[in-house]
Amino acid sequence: MSILVTGGAGYIGSHTVVELIGAGYSTVVVDNLCNSSPECLKRVEELTGQKIKFYEADIRDRKAMDRIFEENSIDSVIHFAGLKAVGESTQKPIEYYDNNIGGTLTLVESMRAHGVKNIVFSSSATVYGSPAFVPITEECPKGVCTNPYGWTKSMLEQILTDVQKADNEWNVILLRYFNPIGAHKSGRIGENPNGIPNNLMPYITQVAVGKLEHLNVFGNDYKTHDGTGVRDYIHVVDLAIGHVKAIEKLKENPGTKVYNLGTGNGYSVLDIVSAFEKANGVKIPYVIGPRRPGDIDECYADASKAKKELGWTAQYGIEDMCRDSWKWQSQNPNGFEK
Ligand code: NAD
Ligand code: UD1
Repeated sequence: MSILVTGGAGYIGSHTVVELIGAGYSTVVVDNLCNSSPECLKRVEELTGQKIKFYEADIRDRKAMDRIFEENSIDSVIHFAGLKAVGESTQKPIEYYDNNIGGTLTLVESMRAHGVKNIVFSSSATVYGSPAFVPITEECPKGVCTNPYGWTKSMLEQILTDVQKADNEWNVILLRYFNPIGAHKSGRIGENPNGIPNNLMPYITQVAVGKLEHLNVFGNDYKTHDGTGVRDYIHVVDLAIGHVKAIEKLKENPGTKVYNLGTGNGYSVLDIVSAFEKANGVKIPYVIGPRRPGDIDECYADASKAKKELGWTAQYGIEDMCRDSWKWQSQNPNGFEK
């Protein structure tokens, strides 16, 4: 029996495939490569010493999805495939709803037709909107999202919850990620953003490698210890291990379950700049600028439910995250392109 990993050639998916194989699972990957490279899977093969069964296909393509379920004995699906650029989603809402919602509906239809009813879904802390309280527990009410990307996550949580409610043979785990950063310790796989990065860590590593001049700090008048935004950064390998734990517990904990995957620690933008400088001995010049619309003061997890029910806690600290992000970027200044 195999685990189907949708979006398995992407940032979090590729790290998860490495951890799944390390834990003894067999995997099948489907990805349309709209935001990833076949080179990433080659490197996953190099790291795991195993050939990856890969389908280059779109999850909205029902025939292709049916073929995957017919040709493989799939037990469970980890569903990463989706578009994730917050800014772009405000410009292209139709494409985002079509890809993320339409894609997931086709995926679950095909799963149902083949009697595969176990799914782990990539959600995000973005569903809390401006959180009612911090640290954020899973009981914190879902909030108003500031962009279509966030709404796709919030709506897909509801859709999968309803699918499970209608047919209790389904087992659903919704994982709400906080801010994934870092890379595999080998420096062979990592995050490969298109164009100028929107997120903090890839922006910092591109400043460090000399591709960008300085970091723009988006506001220093937030209600935080130094005025800059506070987030819960989590090492992507810890996140990947969280998926392995979720797969182990999927059938033990029937129904729909929601877990925060974060470290529980909040770091400000300036904390991250100094941690990066300290871990790597590289200077990060920065300029304080205006706030970015839609940003919130602080967002960090209470991850005790994942600890109690999944037996999962993040192992890596901020220095590890900064070191591994830099190792990946400095060894691969152009990402997966040569
Ligand atoms: P990513 O873009 O690196 O990976 C997503 C993968 O899905 C890509 O390889 C892309 O080519 C593929 N894909 C997209 N649409 C597809 C389709 N229709 N059919 C087949 N493949 C398709 O992103 P990531 O950072 O690895 O994120 C993985 C998941 O986690 C996404 O659903 C994302 O929204 C979610 N998430 C990410 C973050 C983050 O900060 N990276 C935070 C919270 C949630
Ligand atoms: C963003 C998304 C969120 C998504 C998450 C994925 C927004 C509003 N939110 O979260 O929906 O799930 O990415 O990881 O886009 N910062 C700077 N300068 C930069 C970049 C960021 O100061 O060049 C600051 C931001 O203001 C924020 C912090 O760094 O305080 C983290 O930003 P980012 O990495 O973009 O993540 P989020 O905004 O938390």
